[in-house]
Amino acid sequence: MKFREYLPLFEGDLWSEGRRRLGDKLELYDSMQRQINNRYKDVVTYREFIKKFCALNVSSGMHELLLSMDPCTKWDAEEISREIEGTSATDLGCCDGTLTIFYALNHPEIEFTGVDMCHEAVDIATEKSRARGAKNTRFVCADVMSCEGEYFSADTLIAQGSVYQFLPHLTDYNRNFMETIRHGLRTGCKVILSQSIPNKSDQFRPEKVDGYKLLRYDTKTVHSLPLETDLSSEIAVFRTI
Ligand SMILES: C[S@@+](CC[C@H](N)C(=O)[O-])C[C@H]1O[C@@H](n2cnc3c(N)ncnc32)[C@H](O)[C@@H]1O
Repeated sequence: MKFREYLPLFEGDLWSEGRRRLGDKLELYDSMQRQINNRYKDVVTYREFIKKFCALNVSSGMHELLLSMDPCTKWDAEEISREIEGTSATDLGCCDGTLTIFYALNHPEIEFTGVDMCHEAVDIATEKSRARGAKNTRFVCADVMSCEGEYFSADTLIAQGSVYQFLPHLTDYNRNFMETIRHGLRTGCKVILSQSIPNKSDQFRPEKVDGYKLLRYDTKTVHSLPLETDLSSEIAVFRTI
């Protein structure tokens, strides 16, 4: 399934649609959006902030709206879907499950687990999955950095646009994340990371990660008409060794 058959491109006016979805929460949303990059004081405070922001995003439908208008999401999702293999896959930081469900519908033979620390997101993901007819998903509320769940031993592990939130206190968060979770992964596991790249210092430095072999690294810049700007995205695919 192509991404746009699953989630049609939103071509309306983002601001009026945002106002319609958020209603009297619009101001709160705007102020949280502005705070997100300088909110970090300590990990606990940051995670509580992210949980609240995520709850607002999913309950208003803003998360899915933003996915439906970001051209990079289409590229990431289709590339990631092509890479998924094995019999089990885990999506870390799955939010409202929109993308997890897309992967699950494309791979009915694979069991998908979406993990997110925001329980509103997990509840909505479960509902969406049922409504969209995906029978091979389950959604779990957990902090992925505890590295405790058995879902870490899946054949494919996906983290799309979420690693920067897992380790907000670290600059080299991708490498740190991969090193931290390596002990919970089985050898031969495929790890797919993707993210948009606001600045070069956030880029993947895959050659430096112990315990992994890089299979693929690609980046793409797409012009977003609704946002009137170029957006860049990158995908890195590894195998644990
Ligand atoms: C930017 S969103 C990306 C969502 C989704 N992967 C996508 O591309 O649509 C990041 C998600 O990661 C979740 N998250 C952040 N830190 C987490 C943690 N430590 N454990 C579990 N989930 C976390 C947030 O709640 C949020 O839903």
